[in-house]
Amino acid sequence: MQSKRTKIKEALINQENVGKEIIVKGWVRTIRGSKFVNFIALNDGSTIDNIQLVVDVANEKAFELCSKISTGACISCTGILVQSQGKGQSFEIQASEIEIYGTADPEIYPLQKKGHTLEFLREIAHLRPRTNTFGAVLRIRHHMAFAIHKFFNDKGFFYLHAPIITGSDAEGAGEMFKVTTLDFNNVPRNEDKTVNFKEDFFGKATNLTVSGQLESELGAMALSQVYTFGPTFRAENSNTTRHLAEFWMIEPEIAFFDIDDNMDLAEEMLKYLISYAIENCKEDLEFLNKMYDNELLARLDFVVNNSFQRLTYTEGVEILKNAGQKFEYPVDWGTDLQSEHERYLVEKHFKKPVILINYPKQIKAFYMKQNEDGKTVRAMDVLFPGIGEIIGGSQREEDYDKLANRMKEMHIPLEEMYWYLDTRKFGTAPHSGFGLGFERLILFVTGMGNIRDVIPFPRTPMNAEF
Ligand code: 4AD
Ligand code: MG
Repeated sequence: MQSKRTKIKEALINQENVGKEIIVKGWVRTIRGSKFVNFIALNDGSTIDNIQLVVDVANEKAFELCSKISTGACISCTGILVQSQGKGQSFEIQASEIEIYGTADPEIYPLQKKGHTLEFLREIAHLRPRTNTFGAVLRIRHHMAFAIHKFFNDKGFFYLHAPIITGSDAEGAGEMFKVTTLDFNNVPRNEDKTVNFKEDFFGKATNLTVSGQLESELGAMALSQVYTFGPTFRAENSNTTRHLAEFWMIEPEIAFFDIDDNMDLAEEMLKYLISYAIENCKEDLEFLNKMYDNELLARLDFVVNNSFQRLTYTEGVEILKNAGQKFEYPVDWGTDLQSEHERYLVEKHFKKPVILINYPKQIKAFYMKQNEDGKTVRAMDVLFPGIGEIIGGSQREEDYDKLANRMKEMHIPLEEMYWYLDTRKFGTAPHSGFGLGFERLILFVTGMGNIRDVIPFPRTPMNAEF
């Protein structure tokens, strides 16, 4: 007798097991049947597909045992794997022994019925991984994380771990969460009543990072090509379908890359990741395509097979001004593009992903390489259908004086940023990089409509359950 558990995914594809006794373990999706035979659909998360258990309940003991099993219960089942006679599945198990690990009282188990709304499931985020939808999303999320490491590893990049707690708040990418061990009821103060952070854990004010870029640049100035992949935090009070307070970001940084190299890498990477999903997440994508978004698979194929449209911010603004369309936010040269503008360019005008470059310097970060015109910087945003901005990046200003001047103009304290400026002081080099929002990628790949549904435990304003 085989004592090891067989994953349902294997049981469903491995012909070799037919006729043999196997053990499967998992959570009951449905149970139905008669006085003589029960059919249990069992899922263990290894695949979206359930395996059917056929249980003979003609004898009283078996009948009693099965009467305790309901949707959500966890069981182990031993039995012979056989070719299925019923429709809709290839294999089933003729159960000989069932053990109940845990029942799930149908009166109170929240996932008793099918077809719950995503809003409802968000309120029970601790249980929603047990639904088909979240199983699919979480498996795809895993495969995308793996593919990101594979993509960079195959290209000779090194994974750099940027700190999560940072003593610098100069990136300016967003409002930061403070990190402190000070006693809020007895805050140490300086004579001028400001908080005395010298008494805090690190002896200075610290925050959760908004981006690993500045550290990524330090790595690139030694290892040539690095990337970070970690959680980042922004304390903006933005309650949208595309913003999280805690999200994951991938930030490659490459020495000797200019903005064109940077665009090429971003496009290649996105296409690689989407192709990887198409090849490795077939069943899950087909499920999502069927249940939520009939155009998902076609859209993924389209992005892989078409080149991204590249143009300047100035050209983009011209198109928007001549669009003959009324936007909620008016658009003019110098204003930041809103999601409605980005989506117009992508979805209505070009009908494909767009890379916009050379933005006005006043709406972009201090570190971006300044163009000759004195007005624009070598920024690059990749815009995707249904998402808007999926990547933000730039060529970096490598010239010490230009960088220092821009920092002074933007009132960024040079002394505190000495470590960053040192890269430009010692052996500076042209370099570029970008940040891919991991959840925005997952939104695109899954076709889900709300970013809260593509991360296991979303953190948004007024929401940090468990
Ligand atoms: O455009 P952002 O702010 O760029 C940076 O942070 C740079 N330091 C990146 C770099 O050049 N290394 O953010 C990068 C990406 C955005 O394009 C978006 O996909 C995602 O991060 N992002 C968010 N995703 C979810 N929730 C939020 N609040 C996000 N803010 C940014
Ligand atoms: Mg951005």
